[in-house]
This record gives sequence, C-alpha cells and structure tokens, in this order.
Amino acid sequence: MSAPTNNPLVDFREVSFSHASASAPVISHLSFAVQQGETLVLLGKSGCGKTTTLKLINRLLLPTSGQVRVANKPTTEWDPISLRRRTGYVIQEGGLFPHFTVARNVALVPSLERWDEERIKKRVDELLALVGLEPNDFAQRYPGELSGGQRQRVGVARALAAEPPLLLLDEPFGALDPLTRASLQREFSQLNRRLHKTAVFVTHDVREALLLGSRIGLMEAGQLLLLETPENFLKSKNELALAYIETLGVTPTNDASAAQNPAEGMA
Ligand SMILES: Nc1ncnc2c1ncn2[C@@H]1O[C@H](COP(=O)(O)OP(=O)(O)O)[C@@H](O)[C@H]1O
Ligand SMILES: [Mg+2]
Repeated sequence: MSAPTNNPLVDFREVSFSHASASAPVISHLSFAVQQGETLVLLGKSGCGKTTTLKLINRLLLPTSGQVRVANKPTTEWDPISLRRRTGYVIQEGGLFPHFTVARNVALVPSLERWDEERIKKRVDELLALVGLEPNDFAQRYPGELSGGQRQRVGVARALAAEPPLLLLDEPFGALDPLTRASLQREFSQLNRRLHKTAVFVTHDVREALLLGSRIGLMEAGQLLLLETPENFLKSKNELALAYIETLGVTPTNDASAAQNPAEGMA
C-alpha cells in the first residue's frame, strides 16, 4: 500500500543561505512544508530571515545548500519567470509601478500572459471590487493618488490577478495605521477563507499571525523555533513565543481581564 499522499506546495529541505558578502548564514538548516490551502505565517523580529525565506520560494534567491521545492520541483529547476507568474507576491507599500494606472498595475501578469483586452478588463474590475475598490472610481488613478491602505489593496488585487496557486505576502500591512491595518487584516482573512489560497505570510506582528495563520512558524536567526497552530502557539512554553504572547496582554490601562485571555476576540 502506498503511504498517505503528502503533497505540499512548498517544501524546504535543510535549506541554508548565505550572502556572498557575509560569512554568517542568514538561513540555517530550515525545513518546513506548506500544505495546499493553508496560510503559513512566518513570525519573527526584523532581520531574522523572513524576507530571505520568501525570496527563496520564488527564486529571487537560490539556496546555498539544501533544496526548496515548489509543486514538487526544486526551485533550481523552475524557470524563474514562470515560477514568479505562478506566485503572487505582495510587499510592503504594495510595490506598485508609480507611472502605471491602477488598472495597468493589476493587469500586469495577465498582460504578460497575453490575455485578450476584454478578459483583462473584466478581471481587473472583478479584482478591484473584490478588494473593496470601486472600479469606476479607481481603475484609472495612479498609485500616488491613493491612500496607503488603497495601494495595499491594489497590491493584493495584482497578486491575485492571474489566479496564482501560491501567494507570498511580505509584511503587506506593516506600513499602515492600526485601524486601516485591522480592517485589511479582517478582509484578507475573509477573502482567504473564500478563495482557499495557499499563502506564506510574513509578519513581525503576533496579533496578525494569530488572526491570519492556519499555522505559525516562529523564526529566530534564520531558524524555525516552532511551527504550530495558533491554538498551540498560545500554549507554547518556548521563550520567544512566551515573550510574544506576553505583549498581547499589555494594554495602556493595564486591564487585568484583558491579560487573562489574550486571544479573546481574535478568532
Ligand atoms: N544583500 C545582503 N548582503 C548581506 N546580508 C544581507 C543582505 N540582505 C539581507 N541581509 C541580512 O540578512 C538577514 C535577514 O534579512 P531579511 O531576510 O531581510 O530579514 P527580515 O525580513 O526577517 O527582516 C539580516 O541580518 C540582513 O542584514
Ligand atoms: Mg523583511
């Protein structure tokens, strides 16, 4: 009998990575898998290697040793262009082209894939509506004519445009004010539940990790300290996890009841 099928979309196998200019490895012996349909959140402090990990997935970087497999194929064997078209990438501030309209930004990959004009227009309108931007109002604007939150929505729409099987999100809401961030987090979580995307989401914000992750990978110095469901993350005795959990209870009023049940209201 064959073993139960275990067919992760992304599979890190003993991956290490060093920059040519630096002696210390940025990523050390990293092994984890991302299953179809899950949102794996990588949580960790600035500089711990989160962005590097994402870039190893879409082949912006190649491992120094070990292997990153995407859809069962090592990234070294993927054509970089076709790999990147199949992985929607959202970065902080949206990473939009400032001299392209919103519509043209969203249409980037479909245009590269030579969809016909009518199909592109239909898709752009559909996506803008999906991320809560009225197409008639926003399609012809330039990124400079949008708020930070609106730019971020366009970034998400662009990443989804050609229906990539995998989304990579690098602190996409990090630069937003707390209220806009909270509303985009809520909407992203609803959207994700509806679209059943597979995503790797990077953040330094433990609340965001608990809200959006089906599993949370806690990173420190290029290594994964633990990889747990949000529920188990909250029960973890790992020192760094505990430090993050402690920040959840901190409120300006020092409200003892809030500290007792940090995860309440976050489901
Ligand atoms: N081009 C580079 N050359 C040398 N070191 C780099 C380079 N880019 C990033 N690093 C280092 O790699 C480490 C991880 O960076 P990064 O993956 O961007 O962290 P994070 O996204 O978690 O903040 C950091 O210590 C950073 O200084
Ligand atoms: Mg980063």
